[in-house]
Amino acid sequence: MSTEQDEIIRAVSQDANLGSYEEARRTFSWTDAEKHFTWHTTGKLNMAYEAIDRHAEAGLRHKAALLYSDATRSETVTYGEMRDRSNRFGNVLRKLGVQKGDRVFIFMPRSPELYYALLGTIKIGAIVGPLFEAFMEQAVRDRLEDSEAVAIVTTPALLPRVPVADLPHLKHVILVGDGIEAGPGQADFHAEMGQASDQLDIEWVDREDGLILHYTSGSTGKPKGVFHAHNAMIQHYYTGKIVLDLKADDIYWCTADPGWVTGTSYGVFAPWLNGATNVIRGGRFKPQDWYATLESNKVTVWYSAPTSFRMLMSAGDDIVEQFDLSSLRHVLSVGEPLNPEVIRWGMHVYKQRIHDTWWMTETGGQLICNYPSMDIRPGSMGKPIPGTDAAIVDDEGNVLPPKRMGNLAIKTPWPSMMRKIWNNPSKYEEYFRLQGWYVSGDSAYMDEDGYFWFQGRVDDVINTSGERVGPFEVESKLVEHPAVAEAGVIGKPDPLRGEIIKAFVSLRDGIEPSDELKADIAKFVKEGLAAHAAPREIEFKDKLPKTRSGKIMRRVLKAWELGLPTGDLSTIED
Ligand code: PRX
Repeated sequence: MSTEQDEIIRAVSQDANLGSYEEARRTFSWTDAEKHFTWHTTGKLNMAYEAIDRHAEAGLRHKAALLYSDATRSETVTYGEMRDRSNRFGNVLRKLGVQKGDRVFIFMPRSPELYYALLGTIKIGAIVGPLFEAFMEQAVRDRLEDSEAVAIVTTPALLPRVPVADLPHLKHVILVGDGIEAGPGQADFHAEMGQASDQLDIEWVDREDGLILHYTSGSTGKPKGVFHAHNAMIQHYYTGKIVLDLKADDIYWCTADPGWVTGTSYGVFAPWLNGATNVIRGGRFKPQDWYATLESNKVTVWYSAPTSFRMLMSAGDDIVEQFDLSSLRHVLSVGEPLNPEVIRWGMHVYKQRIHDTWWMTETGGQLICNYPSMDIRPGSMGKPIPGTDAAIVDDEGNVLPPKRMGNLAIKTPWPSMMRKIWNNPSKYEEYFRLQGWYVSGDSAYMDEDGYFWFQGRVDDVINTSGERVGPFEVESKLVEHPAVAEAGVIGKPDPLRGEIIKAFVSLRDGIEPSDELKADIAKFVKEGLAAHAAPREIEFKDKLPKTRSGKIMRRVLKAWELGLPTGDLSTIED
């Protein structure tokens, strides 16, 4: 470790109390954590009840559950109102005939209605599938088709991206907006909510019953539906307490959209299970708006991502000085490697240490973290939370000693672990191929003090601005473009976004390469899939390196890009 890093560690360790992390590791048990909930004796539960209704019944009815704002709207929703409105939505779904276990998707920009719909869906035991608003038709189609969704909550503006006619299972489209004229198979959200009762018979489910489906990308094949059960609440509650350090009077802001797992596990469940006040900011990222959100809501705990911190850093320190951020007391990050440089800057401008946390869509909740009371080591993801164990293992599952790089693996099980991959048991089993371990797909090493250090992905999955993109999905879209013969996609290192998507493309016979064509191809992916999945760089090649079985060799493309040796080419076609 460099002396510079030593200095940062000293600087950030002033209120360190390593003992309590060690103590918690020794004394903690998940069975005890469960006793926080009365259902541990009955076995029947419901996430939305525990997150909202329980608090409303226990005297927090008038407490703010949600502080929502965007450019044109600003609204406070109390725990009592959140209970009543999610009840209404549960009744809306029941009236349409939606049943326990059915998949209901929510495809709309952040707004209070999104949260009523999400919680209402869960209350009737249906499985909620949140979709990021930037998805275009192909991405929406893949997810609704795979999960055989019966209903979708969306807006008139996004409706053209929902290929209703091609989705035989999709029976109901619930439209959120003003002046809706609902056609066949459609319902007007506000009109239905107005007529529905605010009293609901909650569906009490088993702990292993389905809660949520989050689609995420791998290196091959279509996106996978990662399925989580209500049982995850034990981990959401507990990590909210010990990692987010949430206390009853905290004002908490998680900047992630609920289309991604961070926006549900830590943008919905963890804060509300802990009875905190949850801030949601709609609209796009803008440094001024973000700082204004922190200031006006007096945010105390803030959970964001490295790309956002890097963008705030490049927006300059002057902006920070225009705002009073003195309410902040705890800051965290997730999604990609958090640069020591950013931590140093955070210490300087926010007077806060930014605590890195590591986990994945599949893990459902935080696992390796810079626990609040422990020394943080800038550049390290931290240590496994109490109740869990992590290790670096080789490809046979042997645990490697400190400082050796290998597969980052988590000892199974833990409460929020995914329970299946929708329609794809063999994909699910791949994660558990080494007896007793969940294999993350990340490579890392552990230092002699037990801190874990991220090194990269083992596969070709791209992480751009903290969003996971599967190269296969982008390649499939690229080859649909009439000018494209073949395409290979890689992540290219980028100082702001972590990685950007770079596509190598060979053109069909007779097509001339040009900058206009590059722009047109990028636009094609953006409009078909999603803006964040479109290549920021395209390079034309006469031929792409392929194996004899015709698979594009992404590792060779990567080596070209980085100017590295291409390694073993014995399987290459010619
Ligand atoms: O590669 C790791 C990276 O993000 C992947 C998980 O992506 P996703 O399922 O979209 O979930 C993101 C938010 C939970 C991981 O396999 N990743 C996540 N956190 C970190 C990270 N890489 C480095 N440091 C982290 N703290």
